[in-house]
Amino acid sequence: MTRLRVDGVSVELPAGGTLLDAVRATGADLPTLCHDDRLRPAGSCRTCLVRADGRTVAACVTPATSGLTVETADEGVANLRRDAVGLIASALPPPVLADSANSELADACRALGIPTHTAAAEPTRGRDESHPYVHLDRDLCIACGRCVRMCSDVQGTFALTLTGRGADTVVAPGTGGPWAESDCVSCGGCVDTCPTGAITQPGPGQGLTSRRTPADRVRTTCGYCGVGCA
Ligand code: FES
Repeated sequence: MTRLRVDGVSVELPAGGTLLDAVRATGADLPTLCHDDRLRPAGSCRTCLVRADGRTVAACVTPATSGLTVETADEGVANLRRDAVGLIASALPPPVLADSANSELADACRALGIPTHTAAAEPTRGRDESHPYVHLDRDLCIACGRCVRMCSDVQGTFALTLTGRGADTVVAPGTGGPWAESDCVSCGGCVDTCPTGAITQPGPGQGLTSRRTPADRVRTTCGYCGVGCA
């Protein structure tokens, strides 16, 4: 077992956990835009920053070790988390930030008091609606890579990649053409994990995206699919 303190609270968790696990064990939570419990951590968005023995670290990729003192409420690190979420949000067009937007990013904005209706850049990167079951709005992509990891590590399909540089990095089919001509098997894993609504399923509920769900292990009919329907 690992024993540490989070915001003054003693926490005990199984060996191998992260600081994010430790924070959640206290009943608190952090914004985790590039993290999904079903995926290997990437540590790329920096929205989960905490202080651990005075160092600022990403909670999702930092191992919990016995004796650590973790602070999440420290004003400095709380402001860093808010800035990280705000920076990501400010680059996106208004729909994802609208008060009614249903996404992890919009939830994080509301929780941190970041205006969800700020003016933002004009849409420029376009949509890929070539596939019957998966649509991509490139302007809403924050390049968190969750869809890519879900497609490769969980589903084993390897249909997606990140392409472009810097702020222009977006998800794309690995084959380079439209989604409909990619290796996508329509499993829906990318739709399920997308934190912004960039990848959606057309039809009823279009434009909605799933919230992050706790990683419960369930029995499934097919036994190999990454979607996790019970
Ligand atoms: Fe930890 Fe993105 S959730 S760095």
